[in-house]
Amino acid sequence: MSSVPGGKPLPVRKPLPYRRVTVLGAAGGIGQPLSMLLKLNPLVSKLSLYDIAGTPGVATDLSHINTRTEVHGFAGDDQLKDALKDADLVIIPAGVPRKPGMTRDELFDINAGIVKKLVQAIAKHCPFALINMISNPVNSTVPIAAEVLKVEGTYDHTRLFGVTTLDVVRARTFYAKAKNLPIEDVDVPVVGGHAGKTILPLFSQATPQVPLSKEEVEELTRKTQDGGTEVVQAKAGKGSATLSMAYAAALFAESCLKAMNGEPNIIGCAYVGSSVTDYPFFASKVELGKHGMVKALELGPISKYEQTCLDEMKDELMGSIDKGVAYVHNTE
Ligand code: NAD
Ligand code: LMR
Repeated sequence: MSSVPGGKPLPVRKPLPYRRVTVLGAAGGIGQPLSMLLKLNPLVSKLSLYDIAGTPGVATDLSHINTRTEVHGFAGDDQLKDALKDADLVIIPAGVPRKPGMTRDELFDINAGIVKKLVQAIAKHCPFALINMISNPVNSTVPIAAEVLKVEGTYDHTRLFGVTTLDVVRARTFYAKAKNLPIEDVDVPVVGGHAGKTILPLFSQATPQVPLSKEEVEELTRKTQDGGTEVVQAKAGKGSATLSMAYAAALFAESCLKAMNGEPNIIGCAYVGSSVTDYPFFASKVELGKHGMVKALELGPISKYEQTCLDEMKDELMGSIDKGVAYVHNTE
């Protein structure tokens, strides 16, 4: 205990562990608000912002905010190594977003190459960092990252996460609104993947549990699956979800950091390499720990409707996984 003269003893605060977070694609639509949320997070000691251009400006701007997080900007191939140095957590929102009428899979041709190159650099410069993959199509970019890391000899499935938190955020919002529930008390696990029918919210496991008709479940499921498309259409050619995504990515990053710092019972949904189903990659609840994922949690009891949806996503999810894996082996 320390004290102020004449005052009560002040509790001594345990210093937070030093944590470095790197954002790759930090000058973009997601990258900028995400970097700001990370700058506001006391768990982040050092924030390294990397993009092909523009990051020195973003970093200088953020560095004037009076929080403890130290911010540095890095731009261009030559500075990627320094941006990754000693990172505990690397968040990747680098890549192009959808325009109206496109599927996430149509981003594959451009984003696969971007992700491959960035993950190769992670393998080299911070092989033990946790990776939070945001770049679409997540159903393929995570298998690409896994395969790259395998080639480089640094793959550990407990450190690689496809960020599906936005699906959870949407499902919570739509469920709370539909049933007039206090939104801060609501949770809905979302499993499967992150595209169209592979996004499967489990309203049978939502909390608090309130009765939903078959029509309500179907409508809420469809609304959650189409959430990304709804934003793409509303933005009318000016990109996809950036602000809600930044919020979701900041939530998941905070869960990773809390778990790294030894906080117990940190659970979130993410798309990971797991054996929860027959799919080699699958989004489910995961328990996080000091070094990444402790375990992917079993699906638990699901409704007949959810089982049908799970069966129906098979071709799309496996197709996206196979496409990602093949890409790494068919390119230099
Ligand atoms: P954006 O175009 O606004 O920003 C992308 C940034 O990536 C740009 O600043 C660009 O310069 C940068 N970039 C491109 N190539 C790079 C490279 N080689 N190294 C570093 N940076 C590079 O796009 P956005 O709206 O921020 O979206 C980014 C990605 O996130 C898209 O693929 C989008 O589909 C995806 N996304 C995913 C989710 C999700 O839930 N996982 C949600 C929203 C968007
Ligand atoms: C989302 O769900 O908002 C993202 O995957 C972006 C998109 O293209 O829909």
